[in-house]
Amino acid sequence: MSAQQEVKQSAAYLAQFRVWRGDPDGGGLEDFKVEVNEGEVVLDIIHRLQATQAPDLAVRWNCKAGKCGSCSAEINGRPRLMCMTRMSVFGRDETITITPMRAFPVVRDLVTDVSFNYTKAREVPSFVPPAGVAPGEYRMRQEDVNRSQEFRKCIECFLCQNTCHVVRDHEENKGAFAGPRFLMRIAELDMHPLDAAPASGLDRKATAQDEHGLGYCNITKCCTEVCPENIKITDNALIPLKERAADRKYDPLVWLGNKIRRRE
Ligand code: SF4
Ligand code: SF4
Ligand code: FES
Repeated sequence: MSAQQEVKQSAAYLAQFRVWRGDPDGGGLEDFKVEVNEGEVVLDIIHRLQATQAPDLAVRWNCKAGKCGSCSAEINGRPRLMCMTRMSVFGRDETITITPMRAFPVVRDLVTDVSFNYTKAREVPSFVPPAGVAPGEYRMRQEDVNRSQEFRKCIECFLCQNTCHVVRDHEENKGAFAGPRFLMRIAELDMHPLDAAPASGLDRKATAQDEHGLGYCNITKCCTEVCPENIKITDNALIPLKERAADRKYDPLVWLGNKIRRRE
């Protein structure tokens, strides 16, 4: 049966899809016509494509509800979750091009190797529990809870990491730059009123600047624009972290302390 004959419902139509197929040795875009029904999202069409025309097409997904962060890809050049991108946002005559995330190495087809992000996650020192307070006895003001709650909505889709121009076309910056998701994690910990890192000698602001590449960020807000959880990464995490890092740098007491330590 032809693809045209398979379109049974009146609301259904055939969309022109252009999908990147390949592996680390190379690849290219392939064209397909795929049935679309009312209410469907891009991931539905990719699944139909697998079921009817390209059974070996590699794609990563899990929840189909915008919560697992697995189905990240670039749709017409824009980084997005395939399961949260409705087909109705495209014109019926439009060619829809699906490519893997550009900042990460391709494994196969739409699947990329995102291990860069796990490496960066491991480099951020975790929360340091306060001394003498047992878990369950932690108390925080509601406004402090609210502030970090926004950052904890992150689903680790890595669309922000993929979009940030510091690494998107600059593989050479990856070693020195943690990326927006993990600078946001540092900001969250730095704002945490119970984090005992400062008491243990860990200055998160200083490490953000010196070890995680905060200075590379020039607050373009591209990361914020693609975040499916609408987290204000730049305004609420990166800019305040930069401000606190600058305050620290120009604080006369910190300057004096550093000078004395250097002499010692
Ligand atoms: S605001 Fe900073 S981290 Fe976000 S995309 Fe721009 S340079 Fe990258
Ligand atoms: S901050 Fe937003 S874009 Fe970045 S990984 Fe988390 S959910 Fe994805
Ligand atoms: S499949 Fe889980 S976010 Fe898309």
